[in-house]
Amino acid sequence: MAKRSKSSHRWVARQRRDPYARLAAADGLGSRAHFKLEQLDRRFGLIGPSMRVLELGAAPGGWTRYLARRVSPAKGGRVVAVDVRVMDVPAGVRFIQQDIHDDSFVARLDAALGGGLQLVLSDMAPNISGVKAADQAASMALVNLATDAALRWLNPGGHLVVKMFQGGGVDDWVRERRAEFEKVLLAKPDASRSGSREVYGVALDFR
Ligand SMILES: C[S@@+](CC[C@H](N)C(=O)[O-])C[C@H]1O[C@@H](n2cnc3c(N)ncnc32)[C@H](O)[C@@H]1O
Repeated sequence: MAKRSKSSHRWVARQRRDPYARLAAADGLGSRAHFKLEQLDRRFGLIGPSMRVLELGAAPGGWTRYLARRVSPAKGGRVVAVDVRVMDVPAGVRFIQQDIHDDSFVARLDAALGGGLQLVLSDMAPNISGVKAADQAASMALVNLATDAALRWLNPGGHLVVKMFQGGGVDDWVRERRAEFEKVLLAKPDASRSGSREVYGVALDFR
């Protein structure tokens, strides 16, 4: 049998200790990410059955499975999920494999969305290089592209939730969004590891 590396042992031990990883496995939900979105939804009342939602950075699909349960195509709801990676797509969700940096992104999404949205979610994260300044810049570039998507497609009253990492660019993002949304704040769901710099920018009620 192949020997496990030390870091893989540490990962397995951490998963066993992690209540959200255990819950996800027991419930067949697949990822702790699912609980982050559930907690953000409970706190801010983000998602309703008839909503039209764009989800950016969807793979491996924890958030998408939560959305598929909460949004009902029979009630006029629609979920369009985007990722550069392939994933298993739950019934009722339209998946587009696409790098958000590509020039074709806007035209492909225009065709898939077919109208305005009530919610834009982004859990996109860059591949981490270990060089802090470069990683922060790459993360904020994704945040800004997700924000551009929200400004382009959100209907008035719509919401934007975007993953970011505490560091350069975050305070400016909050300040700039306050000119466009009624309420803007940073939220860290309990399910987000306390040691990580991950936070979610939450912008509610697009003007
Ligand atoms: C933290 S994971 C998302 C987890 C997901 N929310 C879930 O619940 O399973 C981040 C995702 O962002 C995607 N991503 C990163 N850069 C991207 C880009 N430029 N365009 C599209 N997707 C991107 C990655 O491929 C990765 O699947």
